[in-house]
Amino acid sequence: MERTLSIVKPDGVRKGLIGEVIRRFEREGLKVVALKMVRITKEEAKAFYHVHRERPFFESLTDFMSSGPIVPMVIEGEGAIGKVREVMGATNPKEAAPGTIRREFADSIEANIVHGSDSPETARFEIGFFFNALEIHTRG
Ligand code: RTP
Ligand code: MG
Repeated sequence: MERTLSIVKPDGVRKGLIGEVIRRFEREGLKVVALKMVRITKEEAKAFYHVHRERPFFESLTDFMSSGPIVPMVIEGEGAIGKVREVMGATNPKEAAPGTIRREFADSIEANIVHGSDSPETARFEIGFFFNALEIHTRG
């Protein structure tokens, strides 16, 4: 059993895609075990995406991620990290496979609707960034 952090980004919330994103995860047999809606500050966005601090898109990305409410969630299931990223599609919607969230709904490489952790280590950091143990509901 694996856990990953996904986020419906500000563009996904603005476009009314919270339910659509969750539906696509649940359709793959993945479980939502934690969920909230928050608005993060620019500083918090910088902390969340600190691995990208040297990248040219860091300023723009952290402005975007703090531009409106987002919906972080913890997703659990076998191979959850890979499955979530498969359902999301490639970072650039133009390169994302047909039928993926980003191919169907994203406007650009930055405004790409959804986030998903890329490894067990980043998943641990990212889950802890948004949720404490009491907020994660493991199903027996
Ligand atoms: P994410 O972390 O959000 O799940 O996306 P990802 O793994 O597919 O992409 P990553 O390389 O980790 O980049 C994080 C987010 O930064 C924005 N980005 N903008 N302008 C650009 O060239 C560019 N490249 C990436 C996107 O919002 C991307 O999801
Ligand atoms: Mg990433």
